Amino acid sequence: MRHAPIIGVIAASLALPAAATEYPSKRIVQGELKSRQCVTCHGMNGVSANPTVPTIAGQNAGYLMIQLHHFKEGKRYDERMTPVAQSLSEEDMDQLVAYFSGVTGGLEEDDAGY
Ligand code: HEC
Repeated sequence: MRHAPIIGVIAASLALPAAATEYPSKRIVQGELKSRQCVTCHGMNGVSANPTVPTIAGQNAGYLMIQLHHFKEGKRYDERMTPVAQSLSEEDMDQLVAYFSGVTGGLEEDDAGY
């Protein structure tokens, strides 16, 4: 009986890493699904071939989140991007940012092409 709380703590700490690794991958999968509405402008995987649209692949997650909020709240305005940001929920943004900030493949491919 005296050991029960300690065993509980150990069991809880062992369970944490599994939960922590499952959570981001779900966000990324959802983000990838939702990113299909972004590729027309931002390019496949967020690597833009359009000089008037920024590449968002591999960008700092905090920066992407701030910019999405700025568009949504009107602190930053662009006739193409603002309506998109306004249609996104907090959950959409969280998942999209998790996905785009983690994309590096397209950038590496482009670099190798030169
Ligand atoms: C209709 C075209 C269009 C679509 C669709 C679009 N964007 Fe954009 N986005 C833009 C343009 C254009 C800009 C640059 C605006 C500016 O110059 O301020 C931009 C800027 C951004 C930025 C800021 C990047 C930076 O470097 O500051 C983020 C983040 C972003 N878009 C995310 C998204 C996401 C996520 C989606 C999909 C849900 C999306 N965009 C869909 C056109 C689009």
